[in-house]
Amino acid sequence: MGKINDNLEILCEYQKNPLGIQNQHPRFSWRLTGEYGDTQQNSYQIQVWNGRKILWNSGEIFTSKNQAVSYQGQELQSRTEYHFSVEIEVQRGEKTFCFKNWGTFETGIFQNDQWKGCWIQPVYDSDAAPLIRRRFFLQQLPKKARLYIVGLGYQEITINGVKVGNARLDPGWTDYRKTILYRVYNIGKYLKIGENVLGVELGKGWYAMTHPFFEKAIGRQPDWNGTLKMLCNLWMDETCICTEEDGEWIATPGPIVENSIYDGEKYDGQLEKTGWNLPGYEPSMGEWSRVRKTEGPGGALISQILPEITEGVRRKPVYAEYIGEDSDYTMLIDFGQNMAGWADIRLEGQVGQKVVIRYGEVKGRDGSLDQRNLRLAKSRDCFILGRDGIQSYHPKFTYHGFRYVQIEMDPGIVIHSIEAVEVRSQVKRVADFKSSDPWLNRLYEMGRRTEESNLHSVPTDCPQRDERLGWVNDMTIRYENSVYNFEMLLFYEKWMRDLTDSQDENGAIPDTAPYFFGSRPGTHITSVFVLLPWLLYRFYGDRQIIEEYYEHLKKYVLFKLSQRTSEGILPENYIGDWAPPMTEAQWGWGENAVPANCPQSLFTTCYLLYDCMIMEKISDTLGKTEDCGLFAQEASMLNTAIQKNFYHPEKGYYGSGTQGCNLFPLFLGIVPQTEKGKVFQNLLYDITVLHQNHITTGNQMTKFLYEVLVKEGEVDQALKMTREKTYPSIGYMVEQGATTIWERWELLTVGHMNSHNHPMHGAFLVWLLKGLGGLEPVPSGKGPELNVHPSIPKELDWVEVKRESLNGEIRIKWEKKKKGVKMEIHVPWNTKVRVRIPEGYLYQGEKEFLLKSGNYEMFLNEQ
Ligand code: BGC
Repeated sequence: MGKINDNLEILCEYQKNPLGIQNQHPRFSWRLTGEYGDTQQNSYQIQVWNGRKILWNSGEIFTSKNQAVSYQGQELQSRTEYHFSVEIEVQRGEKTFCFKNWGTFETGIFQNDQWKGCWIQPVYDSDAAPLIRRRFFLQQLPKKARLYIVGLGYQEITINGVKVGNARLDPGWTDYRKTILYRVYNIGKYLKIGENVLGVELGKGWYAMTHPFFEKAIGRQPDWNGTLKMLCNLWMDETCICTEEDGEWIATPGPIVENSIYDGEKYDGQLEKTGWNLPGYEPSMGEWSRVRKTEGPGGALISQILPEITEGVRRKPVYAEYIGEDSDYTMLIDFGQNMAGWADIRLEGQVGQKVVIRYGEVKGRDGSLDQRNLRLAKSRDCFILGRDGIQSYHPKFTYHGFRYVQIEMDPGIVIHSIEAVEVRSQVKRVADFKSSDPWLNRLYEMGRRTEESNLHSVPTDCPQRDERLGWVNDMTIRYENSVYNFEMLLFYEKWMRDLTDSQDENGAIPDTAPYFFGSRPGTHITSVFVLLPWLLYRFYGDRQIIEEYYEHLKKYVLFKLSQRTSEGILPENYIGDWAPPMTEAQWGWGENAVPANCPQSLFTTCYLLYDCMIMEKISDTLGKTEDCGLFAQEASMLNTAIQKNFYHPEKGYYGSGTQGCNLFPLFLGIVPQTEKGKVFQNLLYDITVLHQNHITTGNQMTKFLYEVLVKEGEVDQALKMTREKTYPSIGYMVEQGATTIWERWELLTVGHMNSHNHPMHGAFLVWLLKGLGGLEPVPSGKGPELNVHPSIPKELDWVEVKRESLNGEIRIKWEKKKKGVKMEIHVPWNTKVRVRIPEGYLYQGEKEFLLKSGNYEMFLNEQ
């Protein structure tokens, strides 16, 4: 039994050797790669130490569990580096092998009162983004140098003129009265002996933005709003330089004279303070002034470990033309793809000349940019040249949702190049879908891009207009598609905190989180609060997520239960199955997005039942027997109430009999066995005969439509609807030129609620991975387990689905052959897969079996 150390990859808090860990029970995960990938784990042992002191020795634990094992040792101290090792024994046939690897993690600052110094703010009367400067001298380079920093709203940090890290629009948005995210950087490589300069530029971000939209929406600024400020502890070995009102920290207005997330940025190069963040610069005290001590926003300071917002894909123009009267000076540029980010422009001109870049999703009839659907968001950047010659510019403290930009320039300016740069939370893509039908591949890609454009430290509804909020009703349907497609755990842990930060004493959560707009308590379609942690648990086997939030979830569901009418149902008259085709909506209010075709309370009550079903599973997993019984009982009562209030036995349908009305009960599996056939037939009749394969659903039920069709073996119907190209359908959007999914089923460009980059209607696309590929995680306390039960429609030749789990890649491919179907499955390390052979086929006479890690190729015979 030898020890082999290569190939064992180890993570702490889902990262390699992380900094700034603020969890007293960090989670360890590991996996084997390479040729040992087909082994299974017998046992693990974890040790954690600091210096010579062992803080935790798990002992040898005989289990296959290799994900999210929580540290159970002595209390961790702030700003301390810990070492850990993971040793595992694995089995391959008769043989066992041992593997061991070592890593480190370093803690952040656990308590607010462990920070040195105080919050500071610049004092001058200007709207310009401040430059804050702190000079310090080093006689020798420190062994360890860490920067703990938070600048609100947004910060851009340099040391000796070099940008620290890659983050943009940082730190993430929170309710700053409850939670403030700070960053930790290892800054050793930026330092030098002699004079050093820390430079921080502050943007307004969400914290300090003022905007007419706030007035319009809520009649005031958000309650967490404040003025620019920062807090910083720069530790170099035992020395700490901290923000203080000591005359060492000085500030001046910088060249970004205006900045706003919604409106964009104005940069006046003539106001640049050349060399301000470099050693040797002599600040003139007329221009610079001392900063002042101020109060912080009050929230707990938490280290930000979710993936940062950075620049990503860059796109070149696919079309450009001169437009308008002064045809030499205005250009319309098409990047061919709707996205979120900014333009990066290289131009030549003379000092004082300016360029305005306007952003938008659609072109008007006259060929110019149409920004009406951005509502009050001005979405434009302005660059004034500070010197003659060639220069580059992109904004820093804003982002835009756009496919087109319109450039208006002073005569004589020459544009050398322009690129559209994606800017978003860089969660990693972990899944892929390919099939013999390019149309499906295209829709899949479109759904993925729409989701990507809406991840900016918060899952937003849209990236372009005066909104960009974490709408909880949208997320109630969106969460699954994103968890399948991206590495979302740390991102969503942060958003779960946003949700709990916004939770009221009585358990209610509002419509958006971080909250400032929408109802409070929110409408009852907010179940993502319960559904999301459960899905994360299923994918990552991480109990902490359900444990940590359990009491919050319980309170939330109990609150909703307390809101039932004497009939035992939830009242609702607003969102429901929001934004169906306008032909199915109530006209004249709610932007023609409130469904007219079904009682909203059917959806809210069904969601409450769904909440109880999931709470039953969560409480069971956590061993909370009493709660488990309680939620089971409530679920049963809700079921009875739904049948009584909404089911019409003589007609065989729920509510008003529309698709949405029948879908939710079918999805939940609560339709009485004797009635199920009728209800399902009613659904099919509505789809195929009454609506010729079109949906009548809104943002919630479209996804359930696909779930139900697949579950009931109607995969051909699901495929047919995905291929539909006439109104209303996603295909119609594509036919009308959409490159990301719209908010409305109609092509709208007017100044109303109509974003062209809105993930909610794309939530159903998860069916490609889940239905056609058959991929589904199973809850398991031991090790990862997956169900694989693909569906094979008549009119598709092959499908290939991949997903990179913590244990490695799971891959499923099926392909029709002359006789039967060839199916290939790659099961990653230490993972179990329960395969169910698709309808109509058998494998060696079998329908269901279990596979362990390895590569499998099988021929399925028609049944
Ligand atoms: C948002 C939606 C949201 C809705 C609810 C809209 O403005 O963009 O995504 O579901 O409001 O009222």
